[in-house]
Amino acid sequence: MTTGSVAAGDSRVGCPARHTTPPSVDPVEDLSTEAVKFITAYYRERQIPNVADRISGVLNEIATTGTYWQTRNELTYGAKVAWRQSVRCIGRVRWAGLKVRDRRTVTTIDGIASELTEHLRIADNGGRIQSVITVFAPDHPLAGPRARVWNDQLIRYCGWQLDGRVLGDPAQVDMTDAALRLGWRPPAVPGRFDLLPWVIETVTEDPTLVDVPRELVREVALTHPRHAWFADLRLRWHALPVIANMRLRIGGVDYSCAPFNGHYLADEIGTRNMGDVDRYNQLRAVAAGLGLDTRDESTLWREHAALVINQAVLHSFQAAGVRISDPHAESDLFMRFCAAEERAGRPVYGDWSWINGSVGWAALHAVHHRYYDTRVPNPNFWPGARTPYSPEPSLRERHYLANRQEG
Ligand code: ARG
Repeated sequence: MTTGSVAAGDSRVGCPARHTTPPSVDPVEDLSTEAVKFITAYYRERQIPNVADRISGVLNEIATTGTYWQTRNELTYGAKVAWRQSVRCIGRVRWAGLKVRDRRTVTTIDGIASELTEHLRIADNGGRIQSVITVFAPDHPLAGPRARVWNDQLIRYCGWQLDGRVLGDPAQVDMTDAALRLGWRPPAVPGRFDLLPWVIETVTEDPTLVDVPRELVREVALTHPRHAWFADLRLRWHALPVIANMRLRIGGVDYSCAPFNGHYLADEIGTRNMGDVDRYNQLRAVAAGLGLDTRDESTLWREHAALVINQAVLHSFQAAGVRISDPHAESDLFMRFCAAEERAGRPVYGDWSWINGSVGWAALHAVHHRYYDTRVPNPNFWPGARTPYSPEPSLRERHYLANRQEG
């Protein structure tokens, strides 16, 4: 999808297509209805006998407790299907290989922090990134989340607001402020790639800062195979994208704390994180290195610069032995996923504007040349209950209020 509104020079917004996609609505139904649908689908797909017994057990449990506890196998299946139905993800051919860590009984901030640390270790896997999800306690049916991580990802770089400009990642200015307000002691000298601490909150403990275990954060310095000057830009990125603020919904049950990761597509780093004017905004710097004429958009200097950054990302990650995908391989794999889903008699759900890369020559890839089912069924991943920085009541306050109303 092409960029929609393009204003003059660098004031244009990055990839508006993603923001203009109509928001999907979580098709929430009555808990029993969703539970029965999910259990039925699970037993059918895995050809497990005696579904009626499990359904009556679940319905009884809902009648007496207001919710039900999914078995470890149900949770594992549900998390995998949530990935399989994630309309924005092009890497879904790997859905069955998701490593699901059932940590529903870990409820303290200390416990959660050490499980997040273990998540990083397992997912990193020496650079051969594995797809992992760690699922913490389900939300309370009335009072909501029992734990949450404020950070949108487990590994993120600070955004420092300095007189009129931002040093680091502008997308993280609010999170950086939130950490500072909670008393985080920042590095003595702010840099472009300072790691943000985690902020973890539970119903019994206030939002707490936890330093990211730096030794587990693999990073790759960006160099270009043919342009030696590229290294002088001193760009880098982390190896692991671990989404931490989405709500996993399975069979009517919400898991607001369930961080998950795949591995990067070059485009995400090279085009968006480095290229977007409201992120690291590096197109002009790269164009300067290439000696391009940036006065005239029709020279396509932006596309040229973005291509060179994408090459640098692929080259640097490959040289460092860190798993990364290029758009051609990923498009082919996604076509295989589509074929497998259709063979299994399932629709291929997808959001075209996300499935297609943002490099500008998406028509070179097969994913560009078909449409996808635009519905978004559950199990799936949804935006978290509230943004980490909004001035809503803390989890503690919410649970206090909910319980008071109950009693
Ligand atoms: N686009 C996000 C980022 O650049 C990561 C989203 C998840 N990506 C993934 N390959 N699993 O950090």
